[in-house]
Amino acid sequence: MRNLMVVKLGGSVITDKLAKRGLFRKNVVERLAREIKIAKDRGKFSLILVHGAGSFAHPIAKKYRLNEGYIDTLSSEGFARTKIGVVKLNLLVWQELEKANLAACIVESSAVIRASSGRIKELDTKFIEMLLAQNIIPLLSGDVVIDEKMGFSIISGDQIVAFLAKRFDAKKVVFVSDVDGVFDRDPARYKDAKIIPEINIRNYQNIIGEMKVKNESDVTGEMRGKILSIKRSLSGIKVLIVNGFVRENVLKSLVNNKRQNFGTVINF
Ligand code: IPE
Repeated sequence: MRNLMVVKLGGSVITDKLAKRGLFRKNVVERLAREIKIAKDRGKFSLILVHGAGSFAHPIAKKYRLNEGYIDTLSSEGFARTKIGVVKLNLLVWQELEKANLAACIVESSAVIRASSGRIKELDTKFIEMLLAQNIIPLLSGDVVIDEKMGFSIISGDQIVAFLAKRFDAKKVVFVSDVDGVFDRDPARYKDAKIIPEINIRNYQNIIGEMKVKNESDVTGEMRGKILSIKRSLSGIKVLIVNGFVRENVLKSLVNNKRQNFGTVINF
């Protein structure tokens, strides 16, 4: 699809991920919705929005060990409770979009996704296509879904983003995160950690190798995993990782086609 952007609003941006129960960051989402509205009016692009589940689902999913799939009858209770958390957050995000005059509609992930061993096997895109044709933003989220091998599985928003960006041949994917981009080492441990402005086929092996040598913390391990999965699933599509807590980052990411001086661009 021409001029389609896919934006993932990370769960650690739109919720307080450390909270034991769902804690929505209303002010942040309100501002992000306004930025998206301005960008959309300026840029005239189509948009698919996906959000993470943050504290609305992660603690419940963990309690019921849903990442292991169906274990016993309690798993079904966990499935339902996790989904209630996801749907609550869906609605909160949707209301902020509406307040910013962005027409959106929830596409309930578990109603359109069939998974196998924790991966998306099928994602029915018909409804999404019809929404896009009416200039309505499909709003999806990371979710717990039915899995033909495991009973249930957790499908992250990142996996949904990768699937849809490929299927609709997106022009750009923006991951709105709680960090400034990809650092060369863990910024919490190293004061001299620097943002890597661009990762591409020429420098990625070096970068990943260096990250491994410099430290083995979860943060860099996670980022390394993210880079590799972007390489695997989003090659040919421009990917930006930006900090959603910094005003106008999202706006600029969506309207600027020039080289930007914030975040990390990943281009495979
Ligand atoms: C997680 O989705 C989905 C569930 C736990 C049900 P994500 O993995 O995309 O969520 P965040 O961005 O990490 O919060």
